[in-house]
Amino acid sequence: MSELFATADAHPNIAFIKYWGNVNDQLKISLNGSISMNLDGLTTRTSVRFDSSLDSDKLEINDQPASPAANQRVTDHLDLIRNMAKLNQAAHVISHSNFPIGSGIASSASAFAALSLAGSKAAGLDLDIIELSRLARRGSGSACRSIPDGITEWHAGTTDEQSFADQLVPLDYWELVDCLIIINEKHKSVSSSDGHRISKTSPIQPLRIMGSARRFELCHNAILNRDFQSFSDVVEHDSNLMHSVMCTSMPSLVYLTKSSFEVIHAVLELRSKAVEACYTIDAGPNVHVITIKHQLDTVRQYLQQIPGILRVVSAPVGNGARLIN
Ligand code: PMV
Repeated sequence: MSELFATADAHPNIAFIKYWGNVNDQLKISLNGSISMNLDGLTTRTSVRFDSSLDSDKLEINDQPASPAANQRVTDHLDLIRNMAKLNQAAHVISHSNFPIGSGIASSASAFAALSLAGSKAAGLDLDIIELSRLARRGSGSACRSIPDGITEWHAGTTDEQSFADQLVPLDYWELVDCLIIINEKHKSVSSSDGHRISKTSPIQPLRIMGSARRFELCHNAILNRDFQSFSDVVEHDSNLMHSVMCTSMPSLVYLTKSSFEVIHAVLELRSKAVEACYTIDAGPNVHVITIKHQLDTVRQYLQQIPGILRVVSAPVGNGARLIN
């Protein structure tokens, strides 16, 4: 019998149109479609070995044994793979990320995208991109967008079969770069899974959802037309709407800090000087400043002087998940 082992790499992604709230929390079928770019250079590499000598799944993250909660989440995901492959062996999973995890840099997206590809391959499955995207979505919704290459769209759908991401444009279509301003690298106190669940308690969530198809279309067209002005209008508006929902949920989720707001204001100043830059923020204080490659140095130099910033990382548009030999 061949060795039940595989390794895969995947990148996190930054959402231009956000996913926040599910129709079905268990299947992670989103209330609205979303769009994101994969972040090249930030990588999670995950190896999966199914091993008949193990009693239970074993997970190591960045050379440390994982918490029981993280272990359980991985076991639940491996159960989906084992069911598909009709396999009953436990697995040893080793995962490394070269960027801070759990701080709103979509580490769960790269983690579940890499786990889905490595796990399914190790189990002897040969899933296509749509099947892999659907599988990754079950681990962490946004992970479905880290499977295809480049800038990707998650079509929310209403069923498990319809809810997957595909490529909107390839890597070299538009030279966008994420200039990621890291303010805090610590693990966030409220997970996005809990955030999705409580989003329905915000009176703003129905309004956010009502306009989401239109924002999706505006963002889709702005990317196809490489129209930065329209792109920045809709990206900032969509991020502000999601943070308004977060702040008005019960209990309220306030991820933004004083430094986050300082970066936001600096980005607005840059734009008033005709620099193409816009901000978007996930479930954490770190600010993703999206710009175009030829303006990256200007943006970086302007923003890295803001007090309270730990470091700046830049990431161009990246590939989807890849197997490693
Ligand atoms: O996939 P999750 O459950 O980690 O949710 C991701 C939510 C946001 O990052 C805040 C938005 C998004 O669309 O990525």
